[in-house]
Amino acid sequence: MDARACAARVIHAVVSHGRSLADALPEAMQEETDSRQRALVQELSYGTLRWYYRLDVLLQQLLKKPLKQRDADIRCLLLTGLYQLSQLAMPQRVAVNETVQATKALHKDWARGLVNGVLRNYQRHAEVLESSVARTAEFRYAHPQWLAETLQADWPDAWQAVLDANNERPPFSLRINPQHLTRDEYLDELASRSIEARSLAHTSTGILLSRPLPVESLPGFAEGFVSVQDGAAQLAAGLLSAQSGQRVLDACAAPGGKTAHILETTPGIAHLTALDIDAQRLERVGENLSRLSLKACLQQGDAGEPAAWWDGQQYERILLDAPCSATGVIRRHPDIKVLRRPEDVATLVSRQAHILRALWPLLSAGGMLLYCTCSVLSDENSRQVSGFLDSQSDASGLPIDATWGRECAQGRQVLPGNDEMDGFYYACLRKLG
Ligand SMILES: C[S@@+](CC[C@H](N)C(=O)[O-])C[C@H]1O[C@@H](n2cnc3c(N)ncnc32)[C@H](O)[C@@H]1O
Repeated sequence: MDARACAARVIHAVVSHGRSLADALPEAMQEETDSRQRALVQELSYGTLRWYYRLDVLLQQLLKKPLKQRDADIRCLLLTGLYQLSQLAMPQRVAVNETVQATKALHKDWARGLVNGVLRNYQRHAEVLESSVARTAEFRYAHPQWLAETLQADWPDAWQAVLDANNERPPFSLRINPQHLTRDEYLDELASRSIEARSLAHTSTGILLSRPLPVESLPGFAEGFVSVQDGAAQLAAGLLSAQSGQRVLDACAAPGGKTAHILETTPGIAHLTALDIDAQRLERVGENLSRLSLKACLQQGDAGEPAAWWDGQQYERILLDAPCSATGVIRRHPDIKVLRRPEDVATLVSRQAHILRALWPLLSAGGMLLYCTCSVLSDENSRQVSGFLDSQSDASGLPIDATWGRECAQGRQVLPGNDEMDGFYYACLRKLG
C-alpha cells in the first residue's frame, strides 16, 4: 500500500462521497499489516481533513485552473502534500517525492508533473502565498463559513477559542472502573510503567494520558479495569444520579460508554434498558459490557417510537444522549467539518424534539430525564430544552450546581478544550407530579 495514495482515497471518499472517516479509513487499510504505514495513513487522513479549508484556499492559489471532478483523487493527494509541507515536521524532500510517487498508485502517472510543480511552488513561495490569504476566514479558522458564523452567534465571547480548540489534536482520556480499583491505584500502576498521566478535573473516575496509547497497552484493559472515555462524557453518570433499585433507560446507548459508567457507579440498579436504533452499534454495547462484566437489557428500537419496544413500566431515570451535529467533538472527528451541512442541524433539532416528547411519558412522576448532546449549537441544546419546557407543563428544568462549563438559559455547556474536555451539553429535567 502507498500510504499517501491511500490517504488521498480516504479523503476523496469523505469529501466527494460523504463517507465518514470512521467508515472509510478502516476499509481502505484493511489489507495493510505494517503498523507504521497504518499510522501514516491515519495521520495524513485526519490531519488533512482537520486543515481542509485552509489547505483548500492555498491549493486554489496554486492551481492555474480547477481539476476536473474525475481527478478529485489528485486534488485530495495535493491537499495531503500541502498538509505534510505546512503542518508536519517531515523532511520536505521526502514529502514532495513520496507524494509525487503516489500518483502511480492512483494510476494517474500523468499527474506527476502537476503534483511536483504545485508542491515545489508552495515550498518556494509559502510565505507570500500564506500572507495573501491569511485574512480569509477559511485560512484563519479552517472551518466552513456557516459553522464559524453559527458559533460566533451562539458564543460571541468564545467562538474563536472553540474554533481553535476544534483544530487541536484530541486528548486521550480514560475512565477507571471503581468496582475494580481506585483512580489513585490506577495512576500508580501507570506510573510504575512510566506512562505519564494525571487525574481529570470534575470527574471522580477520569484520567488524562499525556500521549495516546493502543488500548491493548493499557494495564487491565482486557480485564475491564479501564475504558477510553472523554471527561465531559464522564459527567453523565453523576448527573443522572441513578439510585439502587431504580429502573433506568439509556435511550441512545451505543457504543455504551455512558451505559457502562452508570452500571459501574451504581451496581444496585434494578433494571437498565440500553436502547439503540442501530442493531450493529448495539452489538458494540454488548461487547463493551461483557469486557466490563456488566449486564443490561439490550433493546434495538427507535427512541422516538416507544410503542414498538416499551414494556409499559415507567423509568425513574432516562438518559437521552441525543443524535446531534457532534460539533463538540470535531477535534476527534475532523470529517464533521466537511460532512455536516447547515440543513442537517434543522433536521437533527426536530428529531431531538420528537424523541424528547416521545420519551417523556416513559418517565415516572418525580423521575429525572438527563438530556445531553456532544453539540455546541444552542439550537440543539439550551434552545431545544427551553422549547420543550415551554410546551410541557409537567416538566421543570433543574439547576446544575457545578464548576465545569458555563450556565445556559437551560442546562450547562462545556465548550471543547474546557478543562481538557470535549464539547458537551447537559440539562436535567424533572417530571412533576
Ligand atoms: C451520541 S451516540 C450515543 C453515545 C452513547 N450514549 C455512549 O455514551 O457511548 C448517539 C446514538 O444514538 C443512536 N440513535 C440515533 N437515533 C436514534 C433513535 N431514534 N432511537 C434510538 N437510538 C438512536 C445512534 O445509533 C447512536 O448510537
